[in-house]
Amino acid sequence: MTEVSPYNRLNELTAKEWLPFTKTWFIHNPPPRKKDEILHPAKYPENLIEDFIRFFTKRDAVVFDPFLGTGSTLVACYNTQRNGIGIELQKKYADIANERIKKVESQTQLTEKGVEKPCKQLVLKDDSSRLDYIWKQYALPNIDFVITSPPYGPMLNKKGLASQEREDKGLDTKYSDDPEDLGNAEGYDDFLTKLVSIFVKLKPYVKEGAYLVVILQNYMDKGEYKMLAWDFAREMAHHYQLRGERIWCQNNKTLFPYGYKYSFVPNVHHHYCLIFKKTEEVKE
Ligand SMILES: C[S@@+](CC[C@H](N)C(=O)[O-])C[C@H]1O[C@@H](n2cnc3c(N)ncnc32)[C@H](O)[C@@H]1O
Repeated sequence: MTEVSPYNRLNELTAKEWLPFTKTWFIHNPPPRKKDEILHPAKYPENLIEDFIRFFTKRDAVVFDPFLGTGSTLVACYNTQRNGIGIELQKKYADIANERIKKVESQTQLTEKGVEKPCKQLVLKDDSSRLDYIWKQYALPNIDFVITSPPYGPMLNKKGLASQEREDKGLDTKYSDDPEDLGNAEGYDDFLTKLVSIFVKLKPYVKEGAYLVVILQNYMDKGEYKMLAWDFAREMAHHYQLRGERIWCQNNKTLFPYGYKYSFVPNVHHHYCLIFKKTEEVKE
């Protein structure tokens, strides 16, 4: 139980470390964001991503994030000694990602053998809809694991109490007005089609048997509950095998009085970490 099995094909965890991760829900309360990260409207915590990376890969693996934002995935890769590649459309966020990586790399970490951690992190300021060209242009390696949190549809473009609070503080409430930004897709269906097509373009560069984790949320929009996580899972299942989900519950978020006195409107404080696998069993 305390040794890593030599037959473990997936990761470097002992049985005792493996088991808790298979539970389908967990509570993770992100720590307050640092000054250089708060501008971005939807950063995820790197220590949460580290748990996924440790479960789905071994050291020196290649991890990819097509919606890199402030670079949390690559910081998590550095901390776990994996190689990371990330694409981010907006220069301002790609710059933050590069700065964050520079910072962790300057605090040189040593491996147990006393040598500097050899992993590499690459930030590309580009459009993930072009990723088939990008892969060829930079001759990028095949991928062992994908983890990402895409824009949650046109969700950030709706006004609400939470966005008003950020606006009042002068922080971004949406990523950009860029038409290439997936969050600015023409509507929900257009967004979903564009999002899935990015993962379809990615497929030739994902190793057989590799896993993909996509973190999404369902949300309320003008009185209609958008089943984004479920709709995405159904569409993706035509291209990758759906292996299940882990529900990430947050227990430290402000409760807003949406619908008070009139009707039920949820404070959605959980995300779906949807787990897919590239396998030959799923025929296009
Ligand atoms: C939910 S955020 C990712 C946050 C990231 N996980 C972090 O911790 O900072 C989604 C990101 O996708 C970017 N994005 C939107 N459309 C894109 C596209 N077509 N190509 C690449 N990035 C895109 C947005 O600018 C935004 O930063």
